[in-house]
Amino acid sequence: MTNVANMANAVDMAGVAGSSDAADVAGLTNPANVAVRNLTIRLGANTVIENLDLDVRAGEFVVLLGPSGCGKSTLLHSIAGLIDVTDGAIEIAGEDMTWADPKDRRIALVFQSYALYPTMSVERNLSFALRINGTPKAEIARRVARASEMLQLGPLLKRKPAQLSGGQRQRVAIGRAIVREADVFLFDEPLSNLDAKLRTELRRELKQLHQRLGATMIYVTHDQVEAMTLATRMAVMRGGVIQQFGTPAEVYARPDNLFVATFLGTPAMNLLKGTLETREGRVHFSTGHWRLDVSAYPFKNTPANGLPCVLGVRAEDVRLAEGASEHAKVSLVEPMGNHRVIWLDYHGVQVASIDQTKTPLAIGDTAAFSFDSTHVSLFDEAGGARL
Ligand SMILES: Nc1ncnc2c1ncn2[C@@H]1O[C@H](COP(=O)(O)OP(=O)(O)OP(=O)(O)O)[C@@H](O)[C@H]1O
Ligand SMILES: [Mg+2]
Repeated sequence: MTNVANMANAVDMAGVAGSSDAADVAGLTNPANVAVRNLTIRLGANTVIENLDLDVRAGEFVVLLGPSGCGKSTLLHSIAGLIDVTDGAIEIAGEDMTWADPKDRRIALVFQSYALYPTMSVERNLSFALRINGTPKAEIARRVARASEMLQLGPLLKRKPAQLSGGQRQRVAIGRAIVREADVFLFDEPLSNLDAKLRTELRRELKQLHQRLGATMIYVTHDQVEAMTLATRMAVMRGGVIQQFGTPAEVYARPDNLFVATFLGTPAMNLLKGTLETREGRVHFSTGHWRLDVSAYPFKNTPANGLPCVLGVRAEDVRLAEGASEHAKVSLVEPMGNHRVIWLDYHGVQVASIDQTKTPLAIGDTAAFSFDSTHVSLFDEAGGARL
């Protein structure tokens, strides 16, 4: 058995304490808040997480998003109790759980690899944890019936995992978490083994599941589309540090630094280097050959005149329109079905524009465009922080 399977089973066998009262979907879970305080985790000589704080409200769907190796799984596993913390505390439903056994945390964990028991039917896989902890038969039947109804597993209950597709297996793995009626659901890249179509389907199902259950969910992924679509709030991580924590709309529209700005969005946010010129009560962003009045920009602090900075503008805020002030040669056209990404060579910088028009445009054509100045982001070039 793989290490991950072992861990999954450890949490599985731990079972979930309490909550056997018959109730409808609303009573299935008792959503708990999760507070991570000043968490530091060292693995060997490696400090993976340092002084991290995270507050997850009861019933939230929080996504931990970041590149490979940034510490997402480590953080999730520490909440689950699978890793010893070096320093700091983890509270679940207001209770200090830092050193509590995984089985006492009222959590359920779903991994990327389904870790199903190959010799057991779907039904027995679903009920395994409950049978181990001595849940009465009628209660097991009730919970399995409800989970299989929610996840449309009814016709599959008698099958073995080998007779299921990847998506069906992952549904069973999620079902196994549901029957345990946990207060907090933890997911570690549960969809990443599936093909693109299944991923989108299961992603929608997960979102609906969250809406029906109202459970607290913490979900790890490095897929920005999953993060944007699923999260009530998302934490963008890098090198064990949360770079920004907010709603997907906030993080997308007002990234706190250059890393977040370029990590989210397809194509990535356009970045132009320049300086800020403050004169006679006005502020202009200037690249030398182009100026934009950014006086209305909500600066956190009044910027110094001449400050080197980076202007960020999303591709959908680069508008192609006849008669617009800026001109550039088209360097590439990417048709996406319902829109096109037009790449422009703007003074040697590749600028992407998401274009919904059907205007004929080919490589080498000159296009007129403008930047929507109300939606730009400005960053300090030196540290990358949002101005
Ligand atoms: N047992 C260990 N000993 C030392 N370092 C470790 C150990 N386990 C993980 N690490 C390191 O901790 C860092 C964070 O790992 P983690 O698995 O949490 O990343 P992740 O964000 O989940 O990445 P991925 O997206 O690839 O799953 C990595 O740099 C990894 O090499
Ligand atoms: Mg991981």
